[in-house]
Amino acid sequence: SAEQLFKDKNAGPTIETVAELIKSGKAKKIMIMCGAGISTAAGIPDFRSPGTGIYNNLRKYNLPYPEAIFDIDYFKENPEPFYALAKELYPTKFKPTLTHYFITLLHRKNILLRCFTQNIDTLERIAGLPDDKIVEAHGSFARSECLHCYAEADPDRVREAVFGEEIPKCSSCKVGLVKPCITFFGECLPVKFFEYLDDFLYCDLLIVIGTSLQVQPFASLVDRVESPTIRLLINREPIYEYFDFEGIYSEISRDAFYKGDCDDGIRKLAELIGWQDELEELYTIG
Ligand code: APR
Repeated sequence: SAEQLFKDKNAGPTIETVAELIKSGKAKKIMIMCGAGISTAAGIPDFRSPGTGIYNNLRKYNLPYPEAIFDIDYFKENPEPFYALAKELYPTKFKPTLTHYFITLLHRKNILLRCFTQNIDTLERIAGLPDDKIVEAHGSFARSECLHCYAEADPDRVREAVFGEEIPKCSSCKVGLVKPCITFFGECLPVKFFEYLDDFLYCDLLIVIGTSLQVQPFASLVDRVESPTIRLLINREPIYEYFDFEGIYSEISRDAFYKGDCDDGIRKLAELIGWQDELEELYTIG
């Protein structure tokens, strides 16, 4: 049919195309953008998946709206809901997933330009990515500080408070509320986010994994990667606001989509490149 012909004519790249780019050595500066979807397999819920997402399970906190739990003005008045949730999210018992280790493998092969993550679980660090390769766009639990005098809080004291169900208070000024350096709605992103923005202009492949791309300014980073640089989305659901998988808006699509679980997509990508043993070993020894 004409529609089918049209589709075939504009058939864009696939995960096989991406594997070939990496295997052939053409892709040397790979950008990774990731979200909560890469940590669900580690037991950390994402935010928006129907039923299991964090935003669907906050009724007990009587919030005015779900995102209030990460809103800086709401937090200053009512820190309790965030700290109750922090107890579930605090990076202690979670192990990085196969996807985290694939990103580490890219780094070990010297073809990772940067990993921009929205996640606050620090699993990229635990999987062995060095600090200069990671941009935690929404901060993380790694540091905490006082909202009044900005003194850095002792991480052990914060952890004790989180698990002791107390609200951590500043040990310097004695009055301020202590908050992990997670980017709340209403706060600006870490300086590092802006320092590395140009990476998107120089990368030769973008892989977006496990995110709904609902939150700005992170989501619009995908548009900073200029055509014809290929962009691969690995996600349970497609995202049409940013990607043109069928080549409807442009002569030839440059966007590939792998629909499914991150770890399945990553395992397939690794197999196509010939890295399956290395990846499984890295995942096993951790
Ligand atoms: N494999 C593949 N995709 C998955 C998996 C999985 N195992 N688990 C979830 N997903 C997909 C979901 O279908 C969804 O499209 O990952 C995406 C997760 O989207 P969100 O829950 O919105 O998480 P994220 O995109 O990281 O949210 C961005 O929202 O509240 C803010 O600051 C918070 O950083 C967070 C930001």
